[in-house]
Amino acid sequence: MTGTSKETPAAPLTKGILLSGGSGTRLYPMTLAVSKQLLPVYDKPMIYYPLTTLILAGIRDIMIITTPDDKPQFERLLGSGEQFGVTFTYRVQPKPEGIAQAFHIAEDWIDGSPCALILGDNLIFADELEHMLRSAAKRPYGATVFAYQVRDPERYGVISFDEKGRALDIVEKPQVPPSQWAVTGLYFYDGRVCEFARKVRPSARGELEITDLNRIYLEEGTLEVDRLARGCAWLDAGTSDSLMQAGTFVHAIQSRQGLLVGSPTEAAYRMGFISHEKLLETGHKMKKTPLGQMLLHVAAENRPGKV
Ligand code: DAU
Repeated sequence: MTGTSKETPAAPLTKGILLSGGSGTRLYPMTLAVSKQLLPVYDKPMIYYPLTTLILAGIRDIMIITTPDDKPQFERLLGSGEQFGVTFTYRVQPKPEGIAQAFHIAEDWIDGSPCALILGDNLIFADELEHMLRSAAKRPYGATVFAYQVRDPERYGVISFDEKGRALDIVEKPQVPPSQWAVTGLYFYDGRVCEFARKVRPSARGELEITDLNRIYLEEGTLEVDRLARGCAWLDAGTSDSLMQAGTFVHAIQSRQGLLVGSPTEAAYRMGFISHEKLLETGHKMKKTPLGQMLLHVAAENRPGKV
């Protein structure tokens, strides 16, 4: 058996998968020529937002899984990862046969380590985000998912709780949702994840469901569910309405508060993954844009020797 046991100390979680395949049919015709995760969310490509989340979790070894057609464009945008002080490995998923398939595709690369997974269309903003991510990444055993209260739970994986607040069950897109709590597209797993993913069988719609993988941990009693508080925002930008909402949200925060949202460069700088010079260099490259100006502002605020 690979990976972690309750008795042996776990290796730290340093790997994460950014799943960016799928056909984006809910965004046709925009996604006929361009991958959904490369579409703009206000001033950045969508993939920048989940990438920022992984960086804030302290993850530096990142596998990007995409379609065979879209892989060259992702490579052109993101390169080796050097600009963010991380390492990217690219793999393809020939057909969208389910989110849990990511763990078959990445099994040799994961090699029994703990691993996070984030969906390329999931945007999470929270005050305590860094703290939440780091505690999930530190948990040595089991899996962690995040639940968020929504108006339309039937669109998602839904989790129900008993009266003591313990997770009871998790179901994918139920017609009659047992609660309002949707499971977001951000998951942290221990070193047994690939072994468990091999047990998942295709669902009625023919997909290897991430919900079925999570249920294995739930039934074992090792699924931790962190509920996102009211002030947090979780958006999946998979439809034209939610894409528009996400862009409006980012625009509102950036222009009103002057704070960057979803910038992997800023996150990498704050995490100590890149130097002050690298931050300046990226800011200068994009200085004709508000994003570049905001990066230069972060650099000025943090310039070495400033009191
Ligand atoms: O966004 C959170 C939800 O994501 C969860 O609550 C659900 O439990 C989970 O199944 C998933 O539901 P979606 O209906 O949003 O899944 P969708 O098929 O749209 O896939 C989500 C993203 O993952 C999408 O950007 C494309 C990518 N994907 C999906 C599949 C099925 C892949 O890259 N490959 C795949 O095989």
